[in-house]
Amino acid sequence: MSDYRDAYELSLNDPNMFWREAAELVTWDRKPTIILDDSNPPLYRWFSDGRMNTCFNALDRHVIAGRADQLALVHESAITGTSQQFTYAQLLEKVATFAGALRNCGVEKGDRVVIYMPMVPEALIAMLATARLGAVHSVVFGGFAPAELAARIDDAKPKVIVSASCGLEPNRIVEYKPMLDASIALADHKPDQCIILQRPQHIVELNDCDVDWHDIVKASPPAECVSVMATDPLYILYTSGTTGKPKGIVRDNGGHAVALTWSMWNVYGIKAGDMWWSASDVGWVVGHSYIVYAPLFAGATTVMYEGKPVGTPDAGAFWRVIEKHKVKGLFTAPTAIRAIKKEDPNGEWIAKSDLSSLQNLFLAGERLDPDTYHWATLKLNTPVIDNWWQTESGWPIASNLRGLEQVPIKPGSPSLPVPGFDVLVVDETGKDVGRGHEGNIAIRLPLPPGSFPTLWGDDERFISSYLTAFPGMYASGDGGYIDEDGYVYIMGRTDDVINVAGHRLSTGSMEAVVASHPAVAECAVIGVADEIKGQLPKAFVVLKSGVDIDPVVLEKEIVAQMRQEIGPVAAFHHVVVVPGLPKTRSGKILRRTMRGIADGREEAVPSTIEDPAILAILRPLLRG
Ligand code: COA
Ligand code: AMP
Repeated sequence: MSDYRDAYELSLNDPNMFWREAAELVTWDRKPTIILDDSNPPLYRWFSDGRMNTCFNALDRHVIAGRADQLALVHESAITGTSQQFTYAQLLEKVATFAGALRNCGVEKGDRVVIYMPMVPEALIAMLATARLGAVHSVVFGGFAPAELAARIDDAKPKVIVSASCGLEPNRIVEYKPMLDASIALADHKPDQCIILQRPQHIVELNDCDVDWHDIVKASPPAECVSVMATDPLYILYTSGTTGKPKGIVRDNGGHAVALTWSMWNVYGIKAGDMWWSASDVGWVVGHSYIVYAPLFAGATTVMYEGKPVGTPDAGAFWRVIEKHKVKGLFTAPTAIRAIKKEDPNGEWIAKSDLSSLQNLFLAGERLDPDTYHWATLKLNTPVIDNWWQTESGWPIASNLRGLEQVPIKPGSPSLPVPGFDVLVVDETGKDVGRGHEGNIAIRLPLPPGSFPTLWGDDERFISSYLTAFPGMYASGDGGYIDEDGYVYIMGRTDDVINVAGHRLSTGSMEAVVASHPAVAECAVIGVADEIKGQLPKAFVVLKSGVDIDPVVLEKEIVAQMRQEIGPVAAFHHVVVVPGLPKTRSGKILRRTMRGIADGREEAVPSTIEDPAILAILRPLLRG
């Protein structure tokens, strides 16, 4: 037996024993006696009688244990050219003080705090401060438009919103304040107060309901940790589902701390004192788990980066950070590596830096194409580790576990299921299709600690969206297969979710925007292949009869509307007018057939298709 096999089988055969032992990694106020709480299936909970505080586990306990002077956070901004460092003691002081400021604004255990911020240290400080009070944060990515922020405000109903005067993109200042004000005007729910961090690049005027970050911090005594139940919510992170309002993925405190602490060594090979860099954004799940929580739970140093991998100032930006801080593990999305590869195909910038500290490059968020895998392996001379996960899981479902046991890498596969995740491939009826056959990727319940226990305020939607298609299983929304050696292969989504530059977006929401244009009779938005971003949304539009509009004008208007309603993150630039869309005789648009053509995995055309000739017109447009 291997260490991996032993751990994996124990995690499935005796989850109580496996996770009881893993729970020893966490400091509890009251140690749990219940490990898996299966009293209310299919809603499973973990460590349900345990008590703890997430911020205590991320900061205080390391200071108590003698890591006060070790670096906890290094912030690098390629855009402003600045660098900041915080020891565990300094970060704790900042977090405790900001927790005091939140309390000063009336935030107590269970209250929600929306955080709409760029990649500045204060974003991480606000997250940990919220956790310190036992309150619930909901971080919203800066590239979303006011309407998206408003939808999240209405669902989470925050007492306080923490934001900044601006974000900094390489080509422009992103003015957060007008977007925040517009969101609050749009939302039915109104927060009591907004705390605004004034960045020197763009100072804004504050409203009556706003307070300056520094002013409120000066006026507030530090706050101590509030003990919460393991099952109390730590955060809500909204993600794109199929059409309709975004899904509020809930993360609890106890299971999250156990799973993430366990993962840092076992999956990523990182322990206390190591230097770790996750080049993502705190607005995404990778940022929550592996910029903020996991590295700090583990007592490592986390690098937080504001900037892009290329162009700010050049394609050597990532490698200089690794050399400067002797980074041991880098985690990013394949799209970032593709962007670097395009600018620096021969790896000349890589050769200029000393990358001897780097032991692994981890990639996730979208499919790792073999070309990118081979290029990175060759140029970096480092293992390149694909890992598959979702906002819902909160940590990897499949990976090559670098601390537990390293297994051979197979390009195109994120390797083996992580302990706790009983992964299988099923057909439409939920029947296991066995090894080597493609189908829907499902996970037998219960999901392990760290995975979402429900959707915010909506157990019913949780059950109907995820637990109903295949009884006793979680439907991942991804399709793929498992090979003879147990390696998992993810081929793509089976629903209308697409991945643009590692960002998860719903084509259904984009279709709603396209369809609202007065010239549009019907439309389908499909993710088509893109060399750098993996996929890019493209709208196929049928005009209302008698409408005469210049296609260039139509595209411009719809693109502007998309930026207005969803935001620049949608990277939506393409609208094509077509004579018709492929439909069944009953009038249903064959989006799945269109997606298959776009993915290069065209299935047999359904016999119910009304007009097969339409596909011949669409095929070249769907392929790029
Ligand atoms: N706030 C405001 N706007 C933002 C933003 C933010 N936080 N992040 C992105 N945007 C904007 C960009 O400025 C761009 O706007 P534009 O159309 O006016 O140029 C638009 O949203 C699209 O952004 P993006 O898709 O990121 O494209 P890009 O060309 O700026 O950068 C990559 C492309 C590949 C370099 C970049 O996406 C990247 O580094 N991604 C990998 C890392 C990552 O974050 N992965 C996520 C999960 S692991
Ligand atoms: P998100 O919830 O934003 O993390 O996006 C999750 C989705 O990204 C998954 O459902 C997959 O479709 C895709 N994804 C994430 N990691 C991988 C990977 N390693 N390989 C293939 N697809 C991935």
